[in-house]
Amino acid sequence: MEGYILDWFNLFFRWFHLITGAAWIGTSFYFNWLNHNIRSPETPKDGIKGELFAVHGGAFYQVLKYDGAPKVLPKTLHWFKWEAYFTWITGICLLTVVYYWDTKIYLLQSTVGGLQPWQAIAISVGFITASWLVYDLMCRSPLHKQPMFLAILGLILLTIASFALTRIYQPRAAFMHVGVIIGTIMAANVFFVIIPNQRIMVDAMIAGQPPDISKGAAGAMRSLHNNYLTLPVLFIMLSNHYPTVFGHHLNWAILAGLSVISMGVRHYFNLKHNGEHKVWILPVAAVAMVALALVSKPRPAEPLATSRPIGAHGARVTFQQIQPILQVRCLSCHAAKPSFPGFLAPPQGIMLERYEQARAVHAKIKSSTVDSQYMPLGNLTKITPEERALLGAWIQQGMPQ
Ligand code: HEC
Repeated sequence: MEGYILDWFNLFFRWFHLITGAAWIGTSFYFNWLNHNIRSPETPKDGIKGELFAVHGGAFYQVLKYDGAPKVLPKTLHWFKWEAYFTWITGICLLTVVYYWDTKIYLLQSTVGGLQPWQAIAISVGFITASWLVYDLMCRSPLHKQPMFLAILGLILLTIASFALTRIYQPRAAFMHVGVIIGTIMAANVFFVIIPNQRIMVDAMIAGQPPDISKGAAGAMRSLHNNYLTLPVLFIMLSNHYPTVFGHHLNWAILAGLSVISMGVRHYFNLKHNGEHKVWILPVAAVAMVALALVSKPRPAEPLATSRPIGAHGARVTFQQIQPILQVRCLSCHAAKPSFPGFLAPPQGIMLERYEQARAVHAKIKSSTVDSQYMPLGNLTKITPEERALLGAWIQQGMPQ
């Protein structure tokens, strides 16, 4: 029953998270685009800095950008903040349901001995909170006068955090924590800096006083940070699907590489919006992506070397030898009726009860169990290196029956 309820909470929060996240990123992309495409009105208008016409969904729109504030504030002023807050709230709910509820399944590595569930959760909360505090302090310090230095330092610190997290948690959980850290920084930027500063400026304008420009500048810097962090965090949201990446022994370095590449792509668009066409950035990013894929390719020698004791004498590994391994190490989850507490259906529909079933997913078994070793989850069923090697040898030999 508990597993069933958790599954529905998981579904609900994930769906909600995706919807609000799309709304948040959508508005942020839209305003970014708007700011860069709005032009001075053809016929000058009093107090108006820019004007833009658009057609969408069969209707025409005219957007005006004020030079400062309008003389009279309209009754309804949209702030665009709930998208950010709800993305964060639903994200934390999802983190709780997936990773905190039963820390043994997705959070803890069985090899990092001795961590109690509450300790694992405390470390997680500590990492998330400390990351925001350090980032916020950096932004408020004189470092903010050196935006490039600040950005590089931030990226280095984030990579160190990501490295540390991959030592403590299962790789998927570690990646997701980096995502939560970035998401928290982005949402906290909106909550603690961007919106309050905007409010101070609006209040000043209503009172007919000149707005405090430094408030606007601080908000703009945080907005720009959020802008560059968007693409990496989107990748992390999807990263669960890519065991080749999160299961790699240098996963933290690949994550850093992908982040830098995606920020480069973001940079290209920001420059383009400002009228600078640095077209070379895109092919460089593409080449970097291919290079990253090539250098991080798992070396086929690794599983073979460990399987030498079995495969060296040319011994055939048949399904007869594989079946008991699957039975003991995998079937508690990957069966039509899983016996592992909390699992109501085989994860991803993958069942390993019969030869045909195992054969059908052999490539995934190789990537998840032989190469990256993220299966069995947290090695809950205590598979041995020899058994992994045997699975590798069986797949290598073309899965004899
Ligand atoms: C404790 C439960 C559990 C055990 C034991 C377990 N798995 Fe999994 N397995 C999962 C879950 C949960 C997922 C889905 C993960 C996800 O959504 O990314 C999964 C996913 C997979 C996938 C799909 C990975 C992909 O590339 O998407 C494969 C293949 C797999 N498991 C194989 C195995 C093998 C082989 C074993 C035994 C050696 C095993 N699992 C043991 C829970 C388990």
